[in-house]
Amino acid sequence: MDYRRNIIITGGAGFIGSHVVRLFVNTYPDYRIINVDKLTYAGNLANLKDIEECPNYVFIKADICDFEKMLEIMTEYSVDGIIHLAAETHVDRSIKDPFTFAKTNVLGTLSLLQAARHTWEALPEKYEGKRFYHISTDEVYGALELDSPDGEAPYGTEFFRETTKYDPHSPYSASKASSDHFVRSFHDTYGMPVVVTNCSNNYGPYQFPEKLIPLFINNIRKGKPLPVYGKGENVRDWLYVEDHARAIDLIFHKGKTAETYNIGGFNEWKNIDLIKVIIATVDRVLGNPEGQSLSLITYVTDRAGHDLRYAIDSSKLHDDLSWEPSLQFEEGIEKTVLWYLDNQDWMDDVTSGDYQKYYEEMYSRR
Ligand code: NAD
Ligand code: TYD
Repeated sequence: MDYRRNIIITGGAGFIGSHVVRLFVNTYPDYRIINVDKLTYAGNLANLKDIEECPNYVFIKADICDFEKMLEIMTEYSVDGIIHLAAETHVDRSIKDPFTFAKTNVLGTLSLLQAARHTWEALPEKYEGKRFYHISTDEVYGALELDSPDGEAPYGTEFFRETTKYDPHSPYSASKASSDHFVRSFHDTYGMPVVVTNCSNNYGPYQFPEKLIPLFINNIRKGKPLPVYGKGENVRDWLYVEDHARAIDLIFHKGKTAETYNIGGFNEWKNIDLIKVIIATVDRVLGNPEGQSLSLITYVTDRAGHDLRYAIDSSKLHDDLSWEPSLQFEEGIEKTVLWYLDNQDWMDDVTSGDYQKYYEEMYSRR
């Protein structure tokens, strides 16, 4: 079959990537979706079980740092769009091992950009009808003040806007900032049609349980301590992952070339307040006495360089492309808790490492 479009999604076996792959495979049967993922500890093909047999879906296990392989895939599949999510993503890991973050996030992105440039510049129509969409984070903007710690959200008067100066603090955010600059430089230098988005913290199904929300849901289920960094006063702006995936779909198709869009839900929470909501929800769903798991809260040494507050202003995306989040936070957190508690096998496979066998089993069957 001739597909109308051939799109690479990198990092499609990860948390957000799996939602984007699912959305595109189901919404656009006339697009071929090529999931390119190295399957690091964070990549899990079980996240895509429901769509893995779809005729318009292809999975390729490959490292984005492998320039020759990226070139080969782009040529073989006549790729005209790239949605780039593959990355090392956990701040705590970046503090322990910054080199891996520079390699994947900076050099990996550069390798993809170069492969796209070589492929597209060799075509008669060159960059016409092409798009390189880079998914980034709000963490590149640095940290905001907590002007009103005791009041209600928003906890400050400043927000990250598309014009906010980059000021990354962690090795993770520094590597993402660097990759954003490379992407924009390929537009300015070679005329590549790029678009960049910077999103706030995502939550929802299939998130690796090293991140706050799935880690805490699982620890409550198991009666294990909940390690709160510092005083729990840091503020994050939370967006349901399917709302991010919808924004990516919209921006991939309708976003303006060379633009940046911020994506966020105007949904700031102090960590400790969020943790109390998670505890109340899990205890209620499990039928535990109200407040039972509050005793699991354990204050631990703060993360080095822990950014105080993130808060995204996504009004440009709303004004230009009419995007808005579909879920209220209360609904989103309820759905998320129910999903993790209903999918304990997924969680147990991930925490035991069994999910890494899935790829071998899956592909040896073919
Ligand atoms: P994740 O850690 O869950 O998944 C990352 C995926 O990338 C995994 O499947 C992994 O196997 C793959 N990968 C890693 N290195 C690779 C390499 N060298 N080659 C090919 N594949 C590789 O990440 P996530 O939370 O889904 O984040 C996806 C993207 O969205 C990242 O670029 C991240 O910076 C960005 N982002 C995440 C959030 C969030 O809250 N999670 C918020 C804003 C932006
Ligand atoms: P995380 O999910 O790691 O996302 P990010 O660092 O990208 O914002 O952490 C969210 C917040 O929760 C952050 O302020 C750090 C804090 N946190 C804890 O207090 N304890 C934990 O065990 C983890 C993983 C995070």
